[in-house]
Amino acid sequence: MNLHVVGQFPAYRPRRLRQSAVLRRFVSETQLDPAQLVLPLFVRSGRKVRQPIVAMPGVFQLSPDELVREAARAREVGVPAVLLFGIPDKKDDRASGAYARDGVVQQAVRLLKKELPELLVITDVCLCEYMSHGHCGVVQRGKHGARILNDPTLKLLARAAASHVEAGADMVAPSDMMDGRVRAIRQELDQRGFTDTPIMSYAAKFASAFYGPFREAAESAPKLGDRRSHQMDPANAREALREIALDIQEGADIVMVKPALPYLDIVHRVKTEFGYPTAAYAVSGEYSMVKAAAAKGWIDERAVTLESLLAMRRAGADIVITYAATDVARWMKEQ
Ligand code: PBG
Repeated sequence: MNLHVVGQFPAYRPRRLRQSAVLRRFVSETQLDPAQLVLPLFVRSGRKVRQPIVAMPGVFQLSPDELVREAARAREVGVPAVLLFGIPDKKDDRASGAYARDGVVQQAVRLLKKELPELLVITDVCLCEYMSHGHCGVVQRGKHGARILNDPTLKLLARAAASHVEAGADMVAPSDMMDGRVRAIRQELDQRGFTDTPIMSYAAKFASAFYGPFREAAESAPKLGDRRSHQMDPANAREALREIALDIQEGADIVMVKPALPYLDIVHRVKTEFGYPTAAYAVSGEYSMVKAAAAKGWIDERAVTLESLLAMRRAGADIVITYAATDVARWMKEQ
């Protein structure tokens, strides 16, 4: 029931515009639409595999056949795009599964483009899932411990991106945070004739504890050390803007901020300062928190999720990447 507020009306009273759904919609500054959503999916080899991810209820590691079904369900309710992560059978210290012609992502892309040609297929480009040590780059072990070698990593990332596009990917999304990867990938794609394939770069990716559940999902937790040498310090906003500027210079077509909800100030600054197509990634930990609290009956999953995604849009995100994309699109249809 709507309770009416009575009292003295000043000349300007925003409340007047909240009295009817029509008026509210007239003056609503931000809209959330399924057309702005991207659903991340995890693919592994096999058939009929739906391996639940414990910390992410409703999310699974899927074999390519099941992946197509999941993507079709999303597509049916209006989600136009998916973002693929691969879990290879074997890992090594060259991440060879990342750029294998018959790698698990490459196979999945081919199948998706065959079965659902209108679905936009984006692939995550990183090495951590394919490396035995779980790091995003080539690791050199020496007297003074291990280091990640930036430049040799670029070649492997570029090969991985090109192999995804050769398989049919519509867009690649490098998430490794090595310096110079956007340029390296752009050059490689251009050389192979893929001049029209865009790059969505994880440009401001923070070294975040919110990625915890993802590392279970993608089996990509680093065996030693962490990712603070190449992912960003959560304390730094201006640095994030410099990272964004570099990626734009190198040829990124869309820039992404990640995580989303704790970093909406960054989303906002990126959008206002660059006016560039901007994506926000609501990461695994954000999803898991909502699921866990909802399972306890402590919050309303649907209302909290919709409000959070609307906040990302209000902050300036054109695109929202969320594990809840299919549910969200369905809820919006029902509304
Ligand atoms: C790296 C990558 C990560 C995520 C997306 N790409 C994890 C990391 O940097 O450790 C996290 C996504 C999420 O938490 O939902 N390949």
